[in-house]
Amino acid sequence: MVDIHSHVLPGIDDGSKSMEETVEMIRMAREHGTTLLVASPHADTQYSYDSTHIEELLAEARAFAGPGIELVRGCDFHLMFDNIEAALRQPMHYTINQKGYLLMELSDLTIFPNTGDLWSQLEDAGMTIVLTHPERNPLLRQRLELIQEWVGQGRYMQVTGQSLLGLFGKKAQEFARQLLDLGLVHFIASDAHDLQGRPPRLDQAFQWISENYSPRLAELLCVEHPAAAVRGEALDLSEFPPPLMPRKTGFWSKLFKR
Ligand SMILES: [Fe+2]
Repeated sequence: MVDIHSHVLPGIDDGSKSMEETVEMIRMAREHGTTLLVASPHADTQYSYDSTHIEELLAEARAFAGPGIELVRGCDFHLMFDNIEAALRQPMHYTINQKGYLLMELSDLTIFPNTGDLWSQLEDAGMTIVLTHPERNPLLRQRLELIQEWVGQGRYMQVTGQSLLGLFGKKAQEFARQLLDLGLVHFIASDAHDLQGRPPRLDQAFQWISENYSPRLAELLCVEHPAAAVRGEALDLSEFPPPLMPRKTGFWSKLFKR
């Protein structure tokens, strides 16, 4: 599996606290089937994004963690003026593996009415928007039509694996399931911050999707789409979503069959 979102590097955001923890996190990811992990530190008002320092930490982490898992640089990019300016100056700088896919986090407090326009500027500069964990954003949970509109415009949605398992609460779980039912999820990622509460594992979400939807959908969301993003290739959405509608009749699927 390929995990495009993690806070695995030490001391640069609210993720790993030490190189020891970082190495344990990387080993945990590898032991649970992750072959490539994107380190995506926050770039926001609290944490600055120093790519030189991040690359140094990545090199150190690779050396300590050993073979069997690849580590590349990404960024958890918060939508704010300074970040947009910086990204427009260096379009690949913040993107996953510097190949064009940009993890985009929106504020929990407000959705700017011009969000789509700001994204269009980034897209015109060569970036592809991947909105991170909409299911955990209380404002977005009220704005399904906005998510549908964005996906219709070619933006992608990344759901946190643990949301599917209920670890971010019932509302996040139900909304994540609703998005899956409607074919509005393109990536599952761990958004790992530590070893316990938010671990770098995708295996449980993979299994959950296999059992509740299909093994093929799990493969697309946890392996094929994220691998394409790391390579900077377009996603193949030809199987998406009609053959992948839920097989089991959960609450949401019943609702949408009416
Ligand atoms: Fe994150």
